Amino acid sequence: LHTYRLGFIGFGNVGKTLLALLESRRAMLEQRYDMTFMTTGISTLRHGSAVDHDGIDPVKALAAGNLGELSAFSIPQDVFEFIRLSQADVIFESTPVDYFSGQPAVDYLKAALSAGKHAITANKGPVVHAYRELKTLAAKNGVSFFFESAVMDGAPIFSLFRETLPAARLDSIQGVLNSTTNMILTRMELGDSFDRAVAYCQEIGIAETNPQGDIDGWDAAVKIAALVTVLMEFPLLPSNVDRQGIAHLAPVDIEMAKSQGKRWKLVCSAHRSGESVVARVAPEMVGMESPMFHAEGTTSVVRFETDVLGPLTIIEKDPGRETTAYGMLADMLRALSRI
Ligand SMILES: NC(=O)c1ccc[n+]([C@@H]2O[C@H](COP(=O)([O-])OP(=O)(O)OC[C@H]3O[C@@H](n4cnc5c(N)ncnc54)[C@H](OP(=O)(O)O)[C@@H]3O)[C@@H](O)[C@H]2O)c1
Repeated sequence: LHTYRLGFIGFGNVGKTLLALLESRRAMLEQRYDMTFMTTGISTLRHGSAVDHDGIDPVKALAAGNLGELSAFSIPQDVFEFIRLSQADVIFESTPVDYFSGQPAVDYLKAALSAGKHAITANKGPVVHAYRELKTLAAKNGVSFFFESAVMDGAPIFSLFRETLPAARLDSIQGVLNSTTNMILTRMELGDSFDRAVAYCQEIGIAETNPQGDIDGWDAAVKIAALVTVLMEFPLLPSNVDRQGIAHLAPVDIEMAKSQGKRWKLVCSAHRSGESVVARVAPEMVGMESPMFHAEGTTSVVRFETDVLGPLTIIEKDPGRETTAYGMLADMLRALSRI
């Protein structure tokens, strides 16, 4: 039985759910994958940090107001010192996304990989801003950099291509990748005003306090840029995605689509154009023949066209935090070569 040490940078919705999921799978991981684990470090911005090489009690960590109380060491000065002190084999990064630079997550992941630790993130910022650099750094240090949960939560998208579609060329991508805007549009179809629909998303906890990044299409732009960068091997920045949000859509537009048997969707798309890739995020009216029509609420959908298969569609119905956490757990098993 092999014991691995795990470190968490970011311990909010995703980090906490991941720790709880790992604990709930402890027996399965032992039986099926001949491995066990302990959490040797947790780092946050305002809730303190903890390092203990004998393992941090998960129940106490999940309940702690200030993680510093659980630390066996003096509190690390910063995340870089934390990475060194944690002695973790695997670092899980789940800090908030920065659409424009991917920082500070990029630097955290670089530090973890340079120190010979596997790095797993749910954060799309570093994927879109530093994919090649992080992948090269991982290879140089004999570890893995994985990020399955960065787009479509835990649904297998990146691993689908990496592991099951060798030697395929991806020609185009189309889908609904932002759940907040999709829920806003679904609520407007049910009669909500735009503002009421946004408030609903905040009430059920899927929209940020400031949901502008979703509404303006930035989140969708980062996601399509991440897919293009990794799966089409074409580095594309979110600022190079032709982007339009949904703020201008009014109830009258929703009714007009309905009368034509259609629905508005914030569609992300990308296709090859010569040596380049052109990507776009914009509201479009889609008809029943499209799988996007049927993606309501927080459901995501993506369609891939490759040179080897017909169109391949993945639908992820109503993902939750557990879905995101599962993607990171699956990445961990891949990184540790337990599968
Ligand atoms: N929520 C989802 O369902 C979901 C799905 C897919 C992907 N993601 C991605 O996963 C990431 C985390 O999301 P979340 O919902 O878990 O966010 P969250 O609840 O806001 O948690 C973020 C965590 O990161 C810590 N943090 C913030 N800035 C930091 C910094 N500069 N250095 C170190 N730690 C820092 C925070 O510390 P404090 O606790 O002290 O504030 C908190 O523990 C984001 O990139 C998000 O886009 C989330």
